[in-house]
Amino acid sequence: MGNIIEIKNLTKRFDKVLAVDNISFSVKQGEIFGFLGPNGAGKTTTLSMLATLLSPTKGKASVNGFDIEKQRDNVRHSIGMVFQDPTLDEELTAYENMDFHGRLYNVPKNERKKKIIELLQLVELDKKKNDLVKTFSGGMRRRLEIARGLLHEPKVLFLDEPTLGLDPQTRNKIWAHIKVLNKEKNVTIILTTHYMDEADKLCDRIAIIDNGKIVAINTSANLKNKIGGDIITIGTNEREKLLNILKKYKFCKSFKEHNSSLTINVEHAETRVAEIVKLADRNKITIHTLAINKPTLEDVFLYYTGKTIREEEATPEDNFKFRVRRMRR
Ligand SMILES: Nc1ncnc2c1ncn2[C@@H]1O[C@H](COP(=O)(O)OP(=O)(O)OP(=O)(O)O)[C@@H](O)[C@H]1O
Ligand SMILES: [Mg+2]
Repeated sequence: MGNIIEIKNLTKRFDKVLAVDNISFSVKQGEIFGFLGPNGAGKTTTLSMLATLLSPTKGKASVNGFDIEKQRDNVRHSIGMVFQDPTLDEELTAYENMDFHGRLYNVPKNERKKKIIELLQLVELDKKKNDLVKTFSGGMRRRLEIARGLLHEPKVLFLDEPTLGLDPQTRNKIWAHIKVLNKEKNVTIILTTHYMDEADKLCDRIAIIDNGKIVAINTSANLKNKIGGDIITIGTNEREKLLNILKKYKFCKSFKEHNSSLTINVEHAETRVAEIVKLADRNKITIHTLAINKPTLEDVFLYYTGKTIREEEATPEDNFKFRVRRMRR
């Protein structure tokens, strides 16, 4: 099948910040495509340009064959959006929120009712259709927003951090709904996330974005295969000391430091473990735990950016700034 989204040299600069830096890629019809990156990587800015909410500084993109600058109305009718800030009307019922959106998009009255019920069933909210949104949990609201985004039968659905702030159980449920919608409605889905597991479980392909640049793009399996080798995780209170010793050995391809552990990417871990343990012993470093695993998406991210998403995630103070920024938008 063809490409439903084509992006060429897309760039967005806000004063001094180069938020999106010359990105090019395409998304195939029917894909669930994920944008994975830390806070401030440029995910929302990219989606906003594709959704015609922001004009690019440079570059081009088309959605469903329509140019995002020259054919905005056509683009807007081709897409559904669920952005980070909720836009439901709390004082209306689930049904009324859906109906309002349907009117806005000129969904004919006789079709509207049927479609609303069908979509509410898909996200398992049909029994709550006459309840006020203010009585809904975070997960229910998100599901309602996703259903609403599909009411005008868009070809592409943009989901900006669809499970941000939700508990693991609710996140799993939303992933299941996204998969069903993708299959049953044949809608292409582009989502952003900074959750590794979300990208891994849900997306056919993943673009890793960091500092406005796409650093890798592929299926999760291929991304992990590219790292290759094994990941050895060593639990120790003398992480720094161990790191300084192992740094001198070429067979250690890369390292990642955690509070009380160190992870090392090596080829054929089984042939290196004995050597590492011996080195630790000789230098009087106590090893509490040792595990060997295959690379995860987190290791992929580290490989391409030199940092972990976890350490990039906002500290409480940053988090505050980040919320203020969000509210201003
Ligand atoms: N309206 C704006 N004016 C100025 N700078 C902006 C604006 N919107 C975003 N930025 C900056 O552009 C960069 C990318 O922001 P963006 O919101 O796209 O990141 P993100 O990947 O969506 O992050 P998050 O995970 O926090 O949602 C950041 O440095 C941000 O501060
Ligand atoms: Mg964002």
